[in-house]
Amino acid sequence: MCGIVGYVGKKQALSILVEGLKRLDYRGYDSAGVAVATNGSLSIQKSAGRISVLEAQLDVEAMKGTTGIGHTRWATHGAPTDINAHPHLDASGRIALVHNGIIENCDALRRYLSDKGVKFLSETDTEVLVQLIGQAYDGDLEQAVRTSLLDVQGTYGIAVICSDEPGVIIAAGKGSPVLIGVGKGEYIVASSDSAIVEHTTQVIYLEDGEIAKVTRDGFRTTTLGALPVTKQTEEVEYSLGQIELAGYEHYMAKEIFEQPTSVENCLRGRLDLKGGHVHLGGIRDSVRELTHAHRIILAGCGTAWHAALVGEYLFEELARIPTETEYASEFRYRNPPIEDGTVMIAISQSGETADTLAALEEAQQRGALCLGVVNVVGSSIARKTDAGVYLHAGPEIGVASTKAFTGQLTVLAMMAAYLGRRRHLSQAACKTFLEALARIPGQIAQVLKLNDDARQVAQTYCNHENWLYLGRGYNYPVALEGALKLKEISYIHAEGLPAAEMKHGPIALISEEMPVVVIAPRGEQYEKIIGNIEAVRARGGRVIAVATEGDETIQRLAEHVFYIPDVPEPLQPLLTVIPLQLLAYHAAVLRGCNVDKPRNLAKSVTVE
Ligand code: G6P
Repeated sequence: MCGIVGYVGKKQALSILVEGLKRLDYRGYDSAGVAVATNGSLSIQKSAGRISVLEAQLDVEAMKGTTGIGHTRWATHGAPTDINAHPHLDASGRIALVHNGIIENCDALRRYLSDKGVKFLSETDTEVLVQLIGQAYDGDLEQAVRTSLLDVQGTYGIAVICSDEPGVIIAAGKGSPVLIGVGKGEYIVASSDSAIVEHTTQVIYLEDGEIAKVTRDGFRTTTLGALPVTKQTEEVEYSLGQIELAGYEHYMAKEIFEQPTSVENCLRGRLDLKGGHVHLGGIRDSVRELTHAHRIILAGCGTAWHAALVGEYLFEELARIPTETEYASEFRYRNPPIEDGTVMIAISQSGETADTLAALEEAQQRGALCLGVVNVVGSSIARKTDAGVYLHAGPEIGVASTKAFTGQLTVLAMMAAYLGRRRHLSQAACKTFLEALARIPGQIAQVLKLNDDARQVAQTYCNHENWLYLGRGYNYPVALEGALKLKEISYIHAEGLPAAEMKHGPIALISEEMPVVVIAPRGEQYEKIIGNIEAVRARGGRVIAVATEGDETIQRLAEHVFYIPDVPEPLQPLLTVIPLQLLAYHAAVLRGCNVDKPRNLAKSVTVE
């Protein structure tokens, strides 16, 4: 969703801003714009649609200047039109602002400003903020921003420039990430590090309620109350190469094929195979509280919620701690009782999902120990939690989450073993489990060889508009994830179910028009799922199965089988999900869909 980039330095700002916006575009947006401080005034261009539309309209000569801001907008207040696109100007035209987040009291502020005679051009909450800053401006932009933010309720990540103070960007954040890339004689303000890695890997993250005044010579950070804050520069974890396509046609394909490496990176240095232990430095300080937890709540959205469901099985089986999975969006409004000994684990690729953040804050306020399982280092959830474990999957650009999912499963498996070992799990059992976990990256590589098969299966079925995905136990969440992958990128309607639930309704849908993907590796419920396959076949359904190598029974029952290596049940999702990712990917490509930027979806949903 919305992206911010700002530049102050010696170079021409415009091309750096446009490149930065392109690096952010995977997050999803519907309009874009830039403003540059030029010779005592501001030059601004914005338009609905893709960045290429904006680029085509840019008058490079008229936009010369070394300070500027840019934005990709995902509409919240007001339709995605040229006028509602950012940057927005104050009434004098001297101040321009880009904004991520939502100003909750914008109606009241709009009335207040209207009473003072301010005329609004757009329907956005953002224009309200820039008008407020314009009213407060008295020759000091930093002060005007500070005063105005004190009147604002809601969330914001902002970058502001003023024609009277060329060479200055004011940035501030609350509930929406803002970081400053520190270069040599140049600084880049951004909402995500992907916009800065082309220029620098040195970065500082603004905390909630901090303001930065950035010039080409340096920056200074203060609180809203004007107290100075000293910031530490951090190193961004990844490089430009990691956010480029590297010969793949789509980021999603690249990320699917990166999984042997991303899971390996996630495991790196954390498994003690000899001793049957896991080392998780990020939660070491919370180990006592965690080990004695009475209840674990796993919260997330979308794919992260599916990973959480697998986590629930893992924690209950390996660590024997009562665990429940919550949609973050439901938890935050449910007034849930939180007793002593409750631990919340927020799961999120981006670490910025608004609902997950809110659920975390709710649990935190009620005294729960809060941990994060997050991919993006330094993201809001990572900073707000008491402790946590990073996925180290590297940047995930494709909107459909793939390597983050397997990273989340890997971390949850390690956490469950870590806690299990401190509770009931024997050293021998833990050792066997960890040895199996260590083999997973190589086994993922083996399953990825099914790519051509997956393309063929997709070719056969991609014109069927309704699919069903069935799984049991650990593979029930995989059925949900397989269905989500297919629907989000190919726009085929797909439903995932615990296989036993089929008979309570969905079986009525089954006909020869319905591909049914059954995840049926060998395990405790194998016989049951064979029964489900028979039931589907009896009604003419077309079965595509995921099964354990050497399973000939399934071969006779299904139209197509994806075989995976035999692994312990708790680790099966790490392999069974791979053919489903490939299947969804190829179905979407064959249907001519925009795989990396599916319609209506955003990579990181930072609004409710
Ligand atoms: C969006 C994305 C999903 C993702 C979900 C949660 O809906 O399209 O792919 O699973 O957000 O995102 P998070 O960053 O919190 O994992």
